[in-house]
Amino acid sequence: MNVLVLGKGGREHSLCYNLKKSKKISNLWCMPGNAGINRIAKFSNLNTDDNQSILDFCIKKKINLVIPGSEEFLAKGVGDYLRLNGIKVFGPSKKSALLESSKIFTKQICKLGNINTAKWEVFKNSKIALKKIRNLNFPIVIKLDKLAAGKGVLVAKSFEDAKSFLKKVEQGKIGDSNSKIIVEKKLTGKEASFFYVVDGNSSKFIGSAQDYKRVGENNTGLNTGGMGCISPSSYENEKNIKLINKKFIEPTIKAMNFLGYPFKGILYAGLMFTKSDVFLIEYNIRLGDPECQALIARLASNFLDICIATEEQKLKDIQIKISAKKSICIVMASKGYPESYKSGFSIKGIDKVNGNNMVFHAGTKLNKNKELVTNGGRVLNIISKQQTVEKAKAEAYKLITSIKCSNLFYRKDIGD
Ligand code: AMP
Ligand code: GLY
Repeated sequence: MNVLVLGKGGREHSLCYNLKKSKKISNLWCMPGNAGINRIAKFSNLNTDDNQSILDFCIKKKINLVIPGSEEFLAKGVGDYLRLNGIKVFGPSKKSALLESSKIFTKQICKLGNINTAKWEVFKNSKIALKKIRNLNFPIVIKLDKLAAGKGVLVAKSFEDAKSFLKKVEQGKIGDSNSKIIVEKKLTGKEASFFYVVDGNSSKFIGSAQDYKRVGENNTGLNTGGMGCISPSSYENEKNIKLINKKFIEPTIKAMNFLGYPFKGILYAGLMFTKSDVFLIEYNIRLGDPECQALIARLASNFLDICIATEEQKLKDIQIKISAKKSICIVMASKGYPESYKSGFSIKGIDKVNGNNMVFHAGTKLNKNKELVTNGGRVLNIISKQQTVEKAKAEAYKLITSIKCSNLFYRKDIGD
């Protein structure tokens, strides 16, 4: 088979690392890619922003399966475009991608499927929302309906907080100024991410993770795409795997089928475990970054077989094997991330890896002299898989000390 992975981050590097082990793959491509991915997958100059260019490339290179890494490809309908032309895709159609691209859609699915989620109300725009929330009891949570590059949610402690956020939305400084606004009750508890593969009818658990979203130690500072994670989450056990499937995933599959939008791909459930119950905070429709890297470290099955079984609706027939070991992923990012940062700094010493310790590349490239340099906000992912989180943590931080780059930082409390 010929396989094309779409993306350029640590998630896609880890997927290629797993796929590369499959004997069924003759040619593995990944674009746009990065310096690490380019070592194990083929690449060329492809405009991955354009569905037609992707299709043309797939026809030319006889690609059988496309695996889009990020939600952007799926929300733009790459799945529909390629499937219409007979190419297999791992991931949902544009309509089913609404589970991530529209928070209101997800809330409506929760209503349809009787799925536990925080109480919510929707307003036509930020201006109207601002008028209506003045008399609410704070804290509240404010969310933009549409994708906003991870900046579309505020846990507002006071009306002043909410006002400043909504004004920024109105001025177009955060997300789309025309976006509808959801206001929801703030839940108190512990968060965990549970991942299921779904083939339109059935689902299989593929792992769980605990992420570290803030840029600074002790969960301080700005929100990021993720500064690290551990897998499994402390909430992962047989009872919860079954419970989440029954209370969230199965009713979602049913509701999506009822609407005529069968879901195929990854359902990544962001959950809040409160003292007495579990609530859905959000769905993503792809693997997380860096959660995927920690999951892949534990995945004992080949991802290709999971993709094929999903597309052919035969998930019931396969077993997804996950190692009982624990994994950790630590993100090394450019100084200044998630705000402005510089690129082009030399990176040395990343090759001291073995089967249980890995380095996946995110923002890296080779410069004109073919030296490895930084090329983005999140630059490297350091992964270790061991019997305990403590051991994995110690190994990963030890690996980091051998990496030399003058412009990278990382959180020292991942896994605490
Ligand atoms: P979301 O993009 O919907 O996952 O929200 C981003 C983050 O905001 C979540 O990971 C939570 O930390 C927080 N959050 C979202 N909704 C709520 C809620 N109803 N109660 C408490 N925290 C929330
Ligand atoms: N790390 C969070 C995400 O991928 O959405």
